[in-house]
Amino acid sequence: MERQVALVTGGSGGIGAAVAVALAAAGASVGVNYRSDPEGAAAVVAEIEQLGGSAVALQADASREDQVRSMFRALLDRFGRLDVLVANAGIQQDAAFAEMTLEQWRAVLDVNLTGQFLCAREAVRIFDRQGRDPGRSCAIGKIICVSSVHEVIPWAGHANYAASKGGVMLMMKSLAQEVAPRGIRVNGIAPGAIQTEINRAAWETQEALQSLLKLIPYGRIGRPEDVARAAVWLASDASDYVTGTSLFVDCGMALYPGFRDNG
Ligand SMILES: NC(=O)c1ccc[n+]([C@@H]2O[C@H](COP(=O)([O-])OP(=O)(O)OC[C@H]3O[C@@H](n4cnc5c(N)ncnc54)[C@H](OP(=O)(O)O)[C@@H]3O)[C@@H](O)[C@H]2O)c1
Repeated sequence: MERQVALVTGGSGGIGAAVAVALAAAGASVGVNYRSDPEGAAAVVAEIEQLGGSAVALQADASREDQVRSMFRALLDRFGRLDVLVANAGIQQDAAFAEMTLEQWRAVLDVNLTGQFLCAREAVRIFDRQGRDPGRSCAIGKIICVSSVHEVIPWAGHANYAASKGGVMLMMKSLAQEVAPRGIRVNGIAPGAIQTEINRAAWETQEALQSLLKLIPYGRIGRPEDVARAAVWLASDASDYVTGTSLFVDCGMALYPGFRDNG
């Protein structure tokens, strides 16, 4: 990833932080986006600089068009180009369907789906302007949409989240189809249960963890680094013949584990 520049949205913690560090370890300069946690983003930048890499923290709400535009401008001001977007920022606001407010529905769709649209659109515009540079990468640019196993697994009590991730999957595939002739690769990562703040309630007690593990055939909760390694692969020329694919990083969560014992 040397001489390449990546932007990771929601890079101040969890999966995004691990992706930012892994891309930097692979040689990329990295923009670390955050919304509300400047200390988290600064810690990621410091970790990358300790590795001998370059990074910049960029504040923006990924669901706001004006802020997304300013963030990409700031990245270009600092590093001069963009090669990889990892659209990762995401939230959950859970409620039973009949109790879900329009605000909860909109908040999740705005960040998880519209935010990825806004960021991917800016990235495509920049990739098209930059053109091809085979010395850097076979592709003109790469986009990785962080989705979820819930792009295919229905999730009661989380209809807004599942709808946003199903939307991300088909946006990703439609965009991949549209821009492949221009040399842009677009893929998704569908993580299973990864130990971060977003799902703390699912792993912080032994009881919750044991119940979660029943859904994971491989028998362990994921770590952000598990997703980060997949992101580096999808961002690099090692995956140059891959576009429009959801890579499930879930240790079998999407394999209907309830059918293990004859259903
Ligand atoms: N953990 C899992 O098991 C799991 C499974 C499947 C999919 N995912 C997906 O993976 C992605 C990352 O989740 P995570 O587990 O790492 O969660 P996390 O630890 O809660 O981190 C979420 C990140 O998103 C950022 N963010 C939230 N709203 C934002 C906005 N409007 N604009 C910019 N950044 C925003 C947060 O930034 P601030 O803290 O600075 O506000 C934070 O950096 C999400 O899309 C999530 O849906 C996670």
